[in-house]
Amino acid sequence: MTPRLEVRPFAQGDLDALYRICVQTMDAGHDATALFADPQLPGAFYAAPYVVKDPALCLLACLDGQPCGYVLGTDDSVAFREWCEVSWFPSLRRRHPMPVEQDSSRDAAMIRLIHAGYQPHPDLAAYPGHLHIDLLPCTQGRGVGRQLISAFSDLLRSRGCPAVHLGVSEANPGACAFYEKVGFELLGKYPGWRAYGRILVS
Ligand SMILES: CC(C)(COP(=O)(O)OP(=O)(O)OC[C@H]1O[C@@H](n2cnc3c(N)ncnc32)[C@H](O)[C@@H]1OP(=O)(O)O)[C@@H](O)C(=O)NCCC(=O)NCCS
Repeated sequence: MTPRLEVRPFAQGDLDALYRICVQTMDAGHDATALFADPQLPGAFYAAPYVVKDPALCLLACLDGQPCGYVLGTDDSVAFREWCEVSWFPSLRRRHPMPVEQDSSRDAAMIRLIHAGYQPHPDLAAYPGHLHIDLLPCTQGRGVGRQLISAFSDLLRSRGCPAVHLGVSEANPGACAFYEKVGFELLGKYPGWRAYGRILVS
């Protein structure tokens, strides 16, 4: 029987799945679980704070009821940064002290990001929303990414958010091609990553 694919809102109980999917797509779209001593670190930066702050801005793709992908984000990157500084990063920073300079592990890189905090890029201020989208291989290439971007854009529009941006690693050309196919334009190239954006209102 063909597996049943559905897109649904985030529900209480989905948080563990978000952490898992995040690390399983963290290595430029591929599974990075084995690269981390603590595989929850990527999700602690790139996924969990968004749903703790604003669970309505998260949609899941499920195969036969199992979460296999998500889109999540914020309609206001500046407010998100402020909330993270007050309500999210302090306890994580206490739990994960700043690593020594010589530590070149993936864990150390994530912990340094957690200490730096989320930094909205000034070039992207006209695109106040931002998002992250990650699908496990079982749901890729079936139009789900396009569907999630469209539904998430509608959610942002319904809140009056005029435009949304995202960052993508240069090591992930497939994702860059995807964003260009689903209506994003290249806003800037930075060391190691690119910014894409999409206007939501006409
Ligand atoms: C990138 C990702 C979100 C795309 O979602 P998807 O469901 O596989 O993409 P879709 O099937 O909706 O494809 C939409 C369009 O993008 C194109 N596309 C998708 N992935 C592509 C790729 N790797 N290379 C080239 N084009 C791609 C499709 O061909 C399609 O084009 P069409 O409408 O002209 O046919 C998904 O593959 C993914 O999550 N990958 C791993 C994690 C990741 O890289 N996340 C992004 C981090 S910034």
